[in-house]
Amino acid sequence: MGTRPRVVLGVGGGIAAYKACEVLRGLTETGHDVRVVPTASALNFVGAATFEALSGHPVNTGVFTQVPEVQHVRVGQEADLVLVVPATADLLARAAHGLADDLLTNTLLTARCPVAFFPAMHTEMWEHPATQANVALLRSRGAVVTEPDSGRLTGKDTGKGRLAHPQEIVDLARLLLARPDALRRDLEGLRVVVSAGGTREPLDPVRFLGNRSSGKQGYALARVAAQRGAEVTLVAAHTAALPDPAGVHLERVSTAAELEGAVNAAAAKADVVVMAAAVADFRPTERAEHKIKKKDDGSAPTVTLARNPDVLAGLVERRRPGQLLVGFAAETGDEHGSVLDHAHKKLKRKGVDLLVVNAVGEGRAFEVDENTGWLLSADGAERRIPMGAKSELATTVWDAVSELLRDGERRQ
Ligand code: CTP
Repeated sequence: MGTRPRVVLGVGGGIAAYKACEVLRGLTETGHDVRVVPTASALNFVGAATFEALSGHPVNTGVFTQVPEVQHVRVGQEADLVLVVPATADLLARAAHGLADDLLTNTLLTARCPVAFFPAMHTEMWEHPATQANVALLRSRGAVVTEPDSGRLTGKDTGKGRLAHPQEIVDLARLLLARPDALRRDLEGLRVVVSAGGTREPLDPVRFLGNRSSGKQGYALARVAAQRGAEVTLVAAHTAALPDPAGVHLERVSTAAELEGAVNAAAAKADVVVMAAAVADFRPTERAEHKIKKKDDGSAPTVTLARNPDVLAGLVERRRPGQLLVGFAAETGDEHGSVLDHAHKKLKRKGVDLLVVNAVGEGRAFEVDENTGWLLSADGAERRIPMGAKSELATTVWDAVSELLRDGERRQ
């Protein structure tokens, strides 16, 4: 294996600085060499000893320590990725204006690798025109400034300005190392709907028919779209324990019927709909009001199933002009054809613009963090999606969507 990717973790002086420790842990555990560069005020929240112990590197805030090593230039030059967690309003302002009054701001000026800021502050500070102008300036120069989450802030207030979940920050950091341009803001102004997870069809108050979908792929699609600037509604059926993606409107559903209702309502105003959910094709015809009991004669009940609506087929029928529809297909090859033969037929049958094809079976695709497959377009184009994180597959899908939208604009 080559050298470990070098990540600089800048830490700003906000209460969310304690979450930077979890980000640090997540990165070192996945094989990254992390150098922590806090601001002096960050050390009011977390001590240097914590960062030194977790990173295995000395921690300085100023430019007048280890002077012979020319740290103020070298730390930035040698990095493969610079993250700022949390990015306070003050730090965004200093970065936007090119100030260089401590080691972190010097590092931001010398870095030639991707730089990503993860903001955390009170809603008023985030919404202030000064902060918004600084964010726009940093983005216009190619830096990533992620959307903060909404929710509980320090104290009792809630609103926009919460730091993205540490697990999500680690995921986006790894995505930027693999695909440096993955989070460019090319989906601004677009309304996007993503469905995720597996539906549950109840048999009685305690039992259901379900499936093994974890929702990880759908969540990755929603997360990447939101960070590329789209307004995202995520309709989530049952999933593994996953952090809510920052900056995404989340609607929870359980059954296929509920999912259909939520997706259709959101799709009526959407530019793009991605159906990544594993929707049950069948449901028990009847839902018992009380728990079904065992019978003394040893017999087992018979369950009759009814067909569920095909949500994607309904979307194709009611498609708005210019709306793009993306489907997923889980395939195993059989005696009638390979995975790709089946997938090409499905693309035609379904009438979608893009079809993501996963080869399933043997521990692939379900409940795991990596995914591979093909992306097929309605014009017959076929691209292989190499094995990689689900956020990387999501990036391939949004790249293709972005290309189709640009082609559509050119034709108009
Ligand atoms: N889908 C849907 N409504 C359903 C079932 C599936 O919208 N009731 C969507 C899924 O979200 C996915 C695509 O349709 O985007 C999958 O298509 P489908 O033909 O159901 O795929 P498979 O489950 O692979 O079907 P088959 O058994 O026919 O191969």
